[in-house]
Amino acid sequence: MRRLLTAASVLLPLAVAGGVARAAGEAPADDAVSDAVRRGAYIFNAAGCLGCHTDEKGGGQPLAGGRALATPFGTFHTPNITPDPVHGIGRWSDADFIRALREGVGPDGAHLFPAFPYASYTRMTDRDLLDLKAYLFSRPAVAAPNKPHDLTPPFSWRFLLPVWQWLYLTPGPVPDDPAKPAAWNRGRYLVDALGHCAECHSPRTLLGGLDSDRYLAGNPDGPDGDKVPGITGAKGKGGIGGWSDGDLTLFLETGLTPDGDVAGGAMGEVVRNTTSKLTADDRAAIAAYLKTVPLKE
Ligand code: HEC
Ligand code: HEC
Repeated sequence: MRRLLTAASVLLPLAVAGGVARAAGEAPADDAVSDAVRRGAYIFNAAGCLGCHTDEKGGGQPLAGGRALATPFGTFHTPNITPDPVHGIGRWSDADFIRALREGVGPDGAHLFPAFPYASYTRMTDRDLLDLKAYLFSRPAVAAPNKPHDLTPPFSWRFLLPVWQWLYLTPGPVPDDPAKPAAWNRGRYLVDALGHCAECHSPRTLLGGLDSDRYLAGNPDGPDGDKVPGITGAKGKGGIGGWSDGDLTLFLETGLTPDGDVAGGAMGEVVRNTTSKLTADDRAAIAAYLKTVPLKE
């Protein structure tokens, strides 16, 4: 069910929470800041790293982790990804970072849980991954220790994760389709690699993999138990094909739907941290791509 929120109840928390998002989501204005950090700030927003890795409710520092993510498999507590050398990722090499986001394996060889959406981030290019790391390493280090996850066995067993990865992870970027316009390819990259839209908008299999047969067709068990609507190009249920391009880009910028509702919950956060911070061209590319996604039932 769509959450109806009044303008006041949306705008007030936005104004408060905006402080955190701004503090962590924008490159410092300093001209000396390297291009990599500047580009990385944009990737960081487009990939929505801030929300999951910040315990906003508990007053945690940006990227210091500790946010609880309730899932059908138990509760995850996100780790600290600030450059702190002890509690964060300050000692990680470029190769460590690429391996974690592309293969879901930490520097110590431990396999990472797919609640960290690396099955989507795996599609990021090396350059975007390295720019993203440069940006993260330009942020303040926070000496906050990680909290253990609280998962129900067998889902807590990391040694089973290679099986999951074998089933559901196809590592590496997907080459552009030369038969399609540049905006379509950019849109697909923004949706699949960075925005990880399918992580919420596709249904999952029993083992928690993305059901690729029903790509973006909607998900009855989204985050916090929310129903997530389909965003394929279909008109009517399962799609946004009935929305004009302007409706879609306005929604991605502001969260307002064509019938005057405001995106709430998880999508409100995506709009605030991610899609509202993209360029107008990138929002248009997302709309152009989504319109072409077929609904398979
Ligand atoms: C963390 C989960 C999550 C992610 C990631 C996510 N969404 Fe959503 N999205 C939702 C939920 C939940 C709703 C329903 C919101 C509501 O009804 O208030 C929604 C609603 C929407 C809608 C409105 C559909 C309708 O019929 O009303 C669009 C369009 C949309 N999302 C696009 C995207 C795009 C594009 C991305 C990737 C950039 C994305 N979403 C990523 C959870 C998510
Ligand atoms: C949907 C929530 C979510 C999003 C979005 C997310 N992460 Fe995470 N991330 C997690 C969880 C949960 C873990 C813990 C996985 C584990 O313990 O195996 C994690 C783990 C990590 C790790 C491993 C840290 C360590 O100490 O082992 C890194 C690095 C990381 N994330 C970086 C990122 C970056 C960079 C982004 C944005 C591109 C991002 N994350 C987006 C949830 C998320």
